[in-house]
Order: sequence, then C-alpha cells, then structure tokens
Amino acid sequence: MTQKKLKELLASMTVEEKAAQLTQVNGVSIKKDTQAELTGVDPRFAITLDEISRVGSVLNFASAEEAKEIQNRYLERSEKKIPLVMMMDVIHGYRTIFPIPLAMGATFDPALTEECAKMSAVEARCGGVQATFAPMVDLARDQRWGRVMETSGEDPYLNGEMGKAYIRGFHAGGLACCVKHFAAYGAAEAGRDYNTTDMSAHSLAQYYLYAYGECLKENPELVMSSFNALNGKPVNANKGLLIDLLRNEWKFNGVVISDYDAVWEMIAHGYTENEKECARIAINNEIDMEMVSTTYINYLPELLEEGAITEKKVDKMVGRVLALKNKLGLFENPYYGMDVENAEKVFLSAEYRNLARIAAEKSFILLKNEKEVLPLKKTEKIACVGPFAAERGIIGAWACNGRKEDAVSVLQGLENYLGESVPSAKGCGYELLATDESGIKSAVKAAKKAKTVIACIGEYMDDSGEGASRSKLNLPAPQIALLKALKEKGKKVVAVVFGGRAQELDEVEKYSDAILYVWQPGTEGGNAVARTLYGEVNPSGKTTVSFPRTVGQMPLYYNAFRTGRPKPVDDFKNVYYVSSYRDVLNSPLYPFGYGLSYTKFEISNLTISATEMDENGEIEVSVLVKNVGKYDGEEVVQLYLRDHHASMIRTVKELKAYKKIFLKAGEEQRVEFAINEKTLRFYNADFKYVSEKGKFSVMVGNSSENVLEKEFILK
Ligand code: BGC
Repeated sequence: MTQKKLKELLASMTVEEKAAQLTQVNGVSIKKDTQAELTGVDPRFAITLDEISRVGSVLNFASAEEAKEIQNRYLERSEKKIPLVMMMDVIHGYRTIFPIPLAMGATFDPALTEECAKMSAVEARCGGVQATFAPMVDLARDQRWGRVMETSGEDPYLNGEMGKAYIRGFHAGGLACCVKHFAAYGAAEAGRDYNTTDMSAHSLAQYYLYAYGECLKENPELVMSSFNALNGKPVNANKGLLIDLLRNEWKFNGVVISDYDAVWEMIAHGYTENEKECARIAINNEIDMEMVSTTYINYLPELLEEGAITEKKVDKMVGRVLALKNKLGLFENPYYGMDVENAEKVFLSAEYRNLARIAAEKSFILLKNEKEVLPLKKTEKIACVGPFAAERGIIGAWACNGRKEDAVSVLQGLENYLGESVPSAKGCGYELLATDESGIKSAVKAAKKAKTVIACIGEYMDDSGEGASRSKLNLPAPQIALLKALKEKGKKVVAVVFGGRAQELDEVEKYSDAILYVWQPGTEGGNAVARTLYGEVNPSGKTTVSFPRTVGQMPLYYNAFRTGRPKPVDDFKNVYYVSSYRDVLNSPLYPFGYGLSYTKFEISNLTISATEMDENGEIEVSVLVKNVGKYDGEEVVQLYLRDHHASMIRTVKELKAYKKIFLKAGEEQRVEFAINEKTLRFYNADFKYVSEKGKFSVMVGNSSENVLEKEFILK
C-alpha cells in the first residue's frame, strides 16, 4: 500500500478501530464458539471470535490453518479489513528445534546462528507466523535466573553480535522480529524471574543496554518492553528509557510492544490504581501495542475524550502498527506466511535436521577429558545410562511447535551411529527434588560389560526458561550417586550434561573422566552427541557464562568491576581482609570463554604494532596459534582489554573481539586484530561515551583466564 493510501486509511479510522490496532490478544484465549470453556487462560482477557475485530494482532496459534481461520473470521467481521499480524515466539526453531540461544552463544559463530534463524523463519512461515518475539538479548549474570537459556550469556559484546545474527537470519527467512526485553530484565534480584531490578545508571548504560542498541543496527521491526520494575518504576512507565533513549536518541520508529499483561501489571507493581491509569501511562510512553491485557480497548476512547492522551500520539502509534503490516505486505496478502500446503514438506526436512545437528555439535563444550578418554573407539564396549539416556525432552524451553517425539535421544543417536543396540538403564529420575536412588543398581548392572559408560545427566528442559528460576544449581543427589556407583565399579565415566544454564559441576568433576556439556541441544541432539563422542566432530564450543563452584557465588561473571582489595592469588591460605570467601575460591570452576578440544592449541608470540597510540591511531595485535595435537579442530581466539584507570572504575577485562579458526593437526596461523580509539570507549564520569588517556592491557588467549598480555598507552 502506498504511503498516501496508508495515511488516508489512518484518517478514516474511528477511535475504537485505532485502539484495536494497538491491541494484541492471545490466540488461545479466543473462544472459538461462545459456549466453549477456556482452560488455562485469564478469563478477563478472553474475547470471542465475534469480538475479534476489537484487536489488531494475535499471538499463539497452533498452525497455519488456525492462523488462516482467525484471519478469515477477523476479515469477515471488521469493517476496515486491516489484517491481523500473527505473532509467535520463534526463539530457536519452529518445528525443527535448534540448540537454545545460550548454546548458540557457545558456538561463537554468528554466521551459523544466522543460518539457523533463517531456517526457523522459513518453517515458522509455514506455520502461519508473520513476526517473532526474538531475539532476546538481556544480559544475564546470574545462573539462578531461568531465562539465561534465551540469552547468549554474560558478555554484552557477544550478546550484541549474536542478537544481530538472529535478526539477519529471521529477516532472510521472511519474518519480522522483535528485540526483547527492553530493558535489564536479566538482572532480576536473586535470579528470581519477574523480580525487581535495581542498578546504577552507569552499569545500565555501559553493560545492560549495549546489546539492545547494537540490535537496532539491523532494523528489527519491533522492540518489547519488559515486565520488570527498574530503579523504582515499572519499565512501561519509564519515559527515560522508552522515549528519551529508545525513540529520541536511538531513533527507533518501529513498534514497541509490551510484554504479556505487563501494561496491566503496573497495578500489581503498586504503581497505578486502575486499568485506565495503566493505559494512560503506557500510551504516553508510546507502547504501541498492548500484549494480552485490554486496558487500551477499554479506556483509550475515554482518555482521548478527557485529553489525558493526544490524538497525535495515538495516530503516531497506530501509524507504526500499520507500517509494520504494510512492510509485511499484509494489505495485499493477509495470508502471508500461512503456507498450509508446504508445511509438511518443509517441517523437519533432511536439510533442516542436518543444520540442527551441525549447530548442536558446534555448541557442545568439552569441559574435561582426562587421559583422553574421548573420542571413543568403535571397538570399545559402552553402556548409556542416566535419566537423559533415552529422554527426548532435550529441545529446551521456548521450543515453539517443536515436539519431543521428533527429537533423537542420546541412546538413539548412539545406536544410529553404531548400528547396534547399546545397553541402557535410567538409574534415576531427573526431577530437581528427586531422592529415589533405588534404580541405580540396575543402571550399574546394565553397564556391567562396558569399559566406558556414557552417563546422561543434568537439568530437564522445563527447569529452565520463563518462570523457572532455581535456588540451587547442583545436580540432584541421585544423579551424583549414579556417577559415584559407576566410578566405584572402575568404569570410565563420560558425563554428558544437559542444562539450560551453567550448573554446579564440582561433584560431576569428581566422578567423571570426561564431561561434555550439551545444553538443550534440540531435535538432533542425540545424533550430535554420538558423532561428537566418537570424534566425527571435534568439540569447539566455549562457555559464555561462568560455571560456578557454588550457587553462593552468584552473580558471577568474568567482566566484573575491580575492587580496592583484590585477592592476590586464588587460594584460601593467608588471605584475609580481601574481597573473598572463607569457604570457596573466587574463581569459577570453568571461566568464560573456556572449552577443550580433542586436539591441543598453543597460543604464543603476542605482538602489538606499537606501545603508544593517539586518537586517530590503530594498533595491530597478533598471536601465533598452533594446533599441536593429533586432530584437526577449531579454536576461538579471544581478545580482551583492561583500562588501568579512568574517571569511573572499570572491569577486570572485557571481550572486544574474537576469531574462530580451523587448523589441521600440525598447522599454525597468525591471528590478527586491530584496536583503535573507538574500541576503548566507555561511559565516563560525565556520562559521555569516550575514551580516556592512559594505560591499557590487551590480552589474547583461548579463554578469559588463559591469556597473554601486553600494555599500551592511549596518548
Ligand atoms: C515472555 C515473552 C514472550 C511473551 C509472548 C512472555 O511471558 O516474557 O518473552 O515473548 O510471553 O509469548
């Protein structure tokens, strides 16, 4: 539709029609026939299909057929026939499920992430989806928070790179997308979902806002405001964030959508007295679309009448929603994406499964490999035990229309690979509060003839994700008892650990010879695990969250501020009155950026092209990377910077660049980076994004702790 026609359409709309465009309803809460009982849906926000012309968008529906039916019923009933935009959470796949975003972060591979997002989008369009609520780029430093699984981890730079990759991929596959949750939702106090966030303006600007800002460079169509209160106000009431920063400074002119119910939740926060106030505040902050709650359709006309909101503002907001629909071509084709005919051909096709398998393989992290237990030899007798051995619930939270039944378990993957059956037993359940150890005997029995036992343990997919916070991060006692029992029988134990977050693995370390962390690997998880264990692929994933020794270290992240009393050595002995614990080391069990390989990489010979730089200068940094082991493999070479002193205290180190390279056994390569004045910028004491003169360290290595270091001066 031309801009002129769009303007005419807007000018012809009634106030009620405008309020409808600004409202999104849950497809599950649409009563198909008015007699139907709704289960699991808040009845306050339910509408009947006859009332559907009161909304402008629908989220959550089962299939393209259903999306089509909803669109048809809407078009029959609405006078202006402005099509609905159909949205869903396509986070890491639609039907073919790719590894969770946290696992994709571990690949340090934006191009692969982009490809996965593209395929997710193509599948989603066969499922009736026109726009997705992704990527999520909330910075997360606390593993108790269940939604860590949706992020790329604890580093703002990596979060931004991965967020942009997701957007490029969704766009290439034909989906509009939505950066969320603006802002600082990931800093919920005590890691408890939906809890308050309270932080300094500097931390917010420097670390928490970074990735949202980066993502806007790829022109996402929507931004979602978050549920949480930030520094004393619900985000939907935060003009500083929503208007001053997002609209005025960052010039975002797409659609801002609230999170689920979040406009209405301002009452629960104790910030507003009633729904009308919620609507007034959210509209004045240009929340262009209210998700699920219905304060706009109930009160927008009245608020306009009273002059509490202006027509100009409402028109601006409606204009943005119409522009989104126009960009998707919905006025010409309201059924865009409702590709019913192609669905069965596309869903779970060999090409998609293949990509899902490759992505999973590249996301696995080899945390331990003592005496090179891995890779396994085909001739070795094995058994596969543990609560996740035959489990297909390994596709992760937010798996959209993915189904567990379509997923390949580890046991199935091993049998596919070996072409023979593998002895197996569960041993115990995966429930967080499980105590029953009575099945361990039968698991040990199943492993009787095996030299090496693959123990599939960890966290079930529903125990991370939205509303799935945890107060403990250790594995339940029966799972540890299983490892211990196997070890006592003299078995070589290979722990394959599932999880939607970093868990406490010190006990797992104790009783395992090798540990492969496989996250929630998606539909092809089991095949990917088997191929990795047998060395068809060499693990190359790196941690993007610090793995704690104990939950008491939370929040734990490598890029922490320096203190006045740093600990000289990471030891308990003779260290008093420094920033430390009496009962645990400060360091994580596995630091950010860590991950082993079947081969060995040596990084040496750090060179910098100058030891001084002025504001127009550039310093070239390079290291020599050599594959000194027996296998070909990939390594992630990471560059960190430390600013020695500044007008605001700075962090111990911060990731500024990385390169993932492939080297054949015996091969070496010089890896080069460049640093200029822009790389050194931060929000200084005057809140200016600038660099400050002085000493810097540049560090290059293959984890945040294993680095070579040189210094230079910014003049
Ligand atoms: C989540 C969002 C999601 C929305 C729609 C909310 O509960 O916080 O991330 O996009 O639901 O499903």
